[in-house]
Amino acid sequence: MQNDVKVLIAEDEPNALAGLAELISGWGYRTETARDGVEAWEKAVAWDPAIVVTDLKMPRLDGMGLLAKLAEGGSGLSANVTVVVLTAMGSIQLAVEAMKLGAYDFLQKPVDATRLKTILANATRQRETTIELEVVRRRLRESGVLGRLVGGSRPMREIFGLIEQIAPSNVPVLITGESGTGKELVARTLHDLSPRKPRPFVAVNCAAIPETLIESEIFGHEKGAFTGAIERRVGCFELASGGTLLLDEVGEMPSATQAKLLRVLEERKLRRLGSRTEQEVDVRVLAATNRDPRHAVAQGHLRADLFYRLNVFNIHMPPLREHMADLPDLAEAMINEMNQKHSRRVSGVSPSMLDRLMAHNWPGNARELRNAIERAVVLCPDGAPLDAAHLPPGFGADESLGSPALDGSVVTVRVGTTVSEAERLLILRTLEAAGQNKTRAAEILGVSLKTLHNKLKEYGRDREEVRS
Ligand SMILES: Nc1ncnc2c1ncn2[C@@H]1O[C@H](COP(=O)(O)OP(=O)(O)OP(=O)(O)O)[C@@H](O)[C@H]1O
Ligand SMILES: [Mg+2]
Repeated sequence: MQNDVKVLIAEDEPNALAGLAELISGWGYRTETARDGVEAWEKAVAWDPAIVVTDLKMPRLDGMGLLAKLAEGGSGLSANVTVVVLTAMGSIQLAVEAMKLGAYDFLQKPVDATRLKTILANATRQRETTIELEVVRRRLRESGVLGRLVGGSRPMREIFGLIEQIAPSNVPVLITGESGTGKELVARTLHDLSPRKPRPFVAVNCAAIPETLIESEIFGHEKGAFTGAIERRVGCFELASGGTLLLDEVGEMPSATQAKLLRVLEERKLRRLGSRTEQEVDVRVLAATNRDPRHAVAQGHLRADLFYRLNVFNIHMPPLREHMADLPDLAEAMINEMNQKHSRRVSGVSPSMLDRLMAHNWPGNARELRNAIERAVVLCPDGAPLDAAHLPPGFGADESLGSPALDGSVVTVRVGTTVSEAERLLILRTLEAAGQNKTRAAEILGVSLKTLHNKLKEYGRDREEVRS
């Protein structure tokens, strides 16, 4: 039998408690038991368990209370106690709350032994990789890069912090944001920073699969399950076994499929189409959408119960125009990537190119930037920096780029543009028209030089000052 891992079990019903203790010790864990939250807390402090399996409804101190105390920590306790909560049938809502409080996973009663075994094994594995991940994280945090995600701006750093915090757990995450903002990259990063990393990451775009095929794509099917099912097919859930499944544009799924998905998420059991037997599923599910999920719920596209189940955590990716300070770093990372991909040796970005990039509105976000950089890298001579001449013809034309003379220069602002965005365009264009002379630009704009500097800093243009 395995390990020395200490598991504390808290449950007020004596038979259930004895049963759990026997089961868990039988798998080679060291166990202790407690009959309520207070006793559990006292034993936790004295015995320092790695894992606590706790019922939610208990006298004196309930499971939530215990969870909160454990999360707070205390002398005698290791930094991270992994908590698995047991919930009564039908109290998913409480389980979700527990996950938000930091529980690692939950299990519905009556307890399914196989599933409990899997959770404990995962929790043990998670503890082993935590230290390893912490080292990686520290290094990444310092460099404004998280995995393949680039961004030193405040909104991106906040997102990186959240990703680090929730990556190791099993909680579902709903990732929202406009197209091209990096939602899939966030999902991959969550996977890469989790103990599931060695297992597959599978992404399925629900909007791209015809309704008639989607169930089979996700759940798999047996031979002969329906006309045309000539062979048995493994679904995405099974492909992602032990790993992570990203459901992209989940609101595009037919409502009946959403209901089936919800059942798999709650029961963690799956039945292939046309199969009579169910199988265990050990998959972390992430979802992404570029629509407003609450709007999708209101319109009846996304089932409210599924939304609730997926949205335990929400990561909202800001559009690029709201974190332009990251553009220079993003561009640099993308140039490196494209240099590799196309075997080129392009070096950096010329000031005029950076101006054009910074003045653009980026409706297509980081993806649009990546495409622009890829094209430019291919056109640019080796050893030289990317130049505005390498941008596609008409790039940013709708923003009325162009006339370097102040006379006759126009900044066109579309209805729907935010005031701060209009301000940014006006400032950058004026600066351009003033030949990058900040004193003159501040004069024209009627603001102090200090205000202009602050604004430029906000836009990530302070770096340029270092250069020029
Ligand atoms: N913060 C970032 N750092 C580095 N690269 C990024 C970042 N954000 C996005 N990218 C790159 O931009 C491109 C688009 O990202 P991704 O596919 O994750 O967007 P998405 O939000 O899933 O878009 P869609 O809604 O259209 O599916 C990818 O090539 C990705 O690598
Ligand atoms: Mg995507």
